[in-house]
Amino acid sequence: MNKKLFLVGGIILFVGVVGFQIADRNLFMLQSPGAIIEDYKESDYGLGDNYIDKLLKFPDLKKGERTPFDLYKYGGRDKSSFMDRDLGMSWDEWVAFHKAQKPKLMADVKKYMNQRYNFSNEPIEGVYMSGNRKQVMKGPISKLPEGISSFEELAELSAKEIKERNLFPYVPLAHPLHTNAHMVFPNQYLKYHPEHKRIDVDHDIPDNYLPEYPAPMFLTTHKEYGDITRGKEVTLSNYFEMFNGLLTPEQLEGLKELVKPTPSTFFNHTTHRVTLEPSAGVSCFSCHVNGHTNGAFEVAPDTRPQLARLRVGTPSMRGNYNLMQFSSKRSIRSMDHFAEVEEYFEGDPGIQQAIGPRSQQRQVTNRMGDFNAILDFPPAPKLDILYKLIPNKSTSQELLGEKIFNGKGKCINCHSGPAFVDDYMHDLKVEKFYVGRPEGPIKTFPLRGIKDSPPYLHDGRCMTLHDSVEFFNLILELKLSKEEKDALVSYLLCL
Ligand code: HEC
Ligand code: HEC
Repeated sequence: MNKKLFLVGGIILFVGVVGFQIADRNLFMLQSPGAIIEDYKESDYGLGDNYIDKLLKFPDLKKGERTPFDLYKYGGRDKSSFMDRDLGMSWDEWVAFHKAQKPKLMADVKKYMNQRYNFSNEPIEGVYMSGNRKQVMKGPISKLPEGISSFEELAELSAKEIKERNLFPYVPLAHPLHTNAHMVFPNQYLKYHPEHKRIDVDHDIPDNYLPEYPAPMFLTTHKEYGDITRGKEVTLSNYFEMFNGLLTPEQLEGLKELVKPTPSTFFNHTTHRVTLEPSAGVSCFSCHVNGHTNGAFEVAPDTRPQLARLRVGTPSMRGNYNLMQFSSKRSIRSMDHFAEVEEYFEGDPGIQQAIGPRSQQRQVTNRMGDFNAILDFPPAPKLDILYKLIPNKSTSQELLGEKIFNGKGKCINCHSGPAFVDDYMHDLKVEKFYVGRPEGPIKTFPLRGIKDSPPYLHDGRCMTLHDSVEFFNLILELKLSKEEKDALVSYLLCL
């Protein structure tokens, strides 16, 4: 009796399942396939037909292998989003590989940079960064293409012509060894921190075109001290002595975390590293020295494939209390959150297993935010409380610059308020001027204290303020005269 029942039940179930499947296969898939437009027509969305075909395909490279310096010409996808923590060779082979590759690589990097820039080391007379020791460099130093004799002549041409004749002097700058990427520290810093010298690649910009090191630090809570560090770099060894009695316990604890080294992708204790000796890693202030920047660069954490990641220079943390938008493309909305997610320590789950995740508790990152929130901009004695130039303290050239900034130059559209920033991201559509992968919207960077933080733009492609002005003169198609551009620079030096 029981046997018969089972048999009948089984048959009913079988017929039911098969029938159901025939009736509606989708019910048995992981998920239904979603709507598909049958007569889908491609659009160029304003970029030009088959734009992706105009870009070169990313080369298939192994870790450590050289990458093209003009990576902006490449586009598309890669096999995987994840980083492989296997170097594909033994540690000894890795060291030998870079020992052989690095001299030629750095000679070519130098040649490439000298083709793009005229590093004349000529300063603007009498103009110093806020620490009063380092001179601000004069520009423009981006080289003009052959056949063009001045930036004014170039600015007369249309974007289309500049693109077709390949004349744009401000194409994106890439990380010189993109397969390894990660942080590259400038020489001025490595003199004091030799543990961060890399076996595979060096910084590619002369120290004169980088911020002063160590930079002065100004606190909103202790203006009476001016530079609170008195010319010292704040480290784990001296922060307590320097700040005990000046900061709240939360700020002091936050500062400790900002100067405490942690292993990162390539600076660590494992054999997945780019330093000859193992190290404790880097701290936030290894790049944001004294809450400012030493000019170290990295690649941005916001996209894949690896080779599509934009080069990004370290921005200052000064005045972050007045910013609503952090990181060039990630649109992070608070300093606490930034400290929590800072991905150089490391965001890739494949690497985390090897170096140990940073995973700061929120209580700790909030305290880091507490300290960040009192890092002030440097003093700007020529500005009044409404951020306008005080006429009897300013030259006629500076006043003309202010007028252009607020009028003909259109700068005020995106650089306004106490930090001279609108806290939005803008798509500057720079790819109108060259054939390459569009970089999309980038956050506006503040202009308060701007003379202290060369090189400019997210990737540092503009080495001087003169170059930044030439850049905006071209992309906004302003056609400013030489006199007007010089006046704009004089004004930017007052902010
Ligand atoms: C390479 C050295 C380096 C280290 C170490 C580093 N940063 Fe940064 N920081 C950068 C770079 C590069 C950017 C720009 C990233 C971007 O544009 O996507 C940045 C951006 C920021 C910003 C946003 C600034 C702005 O104006 O948008 C904040 C805030 C910040 N870092 C805080 C930190 C904190 C906190 C730590 C430690 C947990 C840290 N950084 C460690 C290089 C570094
Ligand atoms: C449409 C908005 C917009 C206008 C108008 C504009 N800017 Fe900007 N500015 C930006 C954005 C966005 C960035 C960051 C771009 C990047 O990093 O690629 C920037 C960056 C800069 C930088 C570099 C900041 C740094 O820390 O690296 C300078 C200098 C600058 N602008 C000056 C000017 C001047 C001078 C004008 C007027 C002639 C101007 N800008 C007009 C949006 C604008």
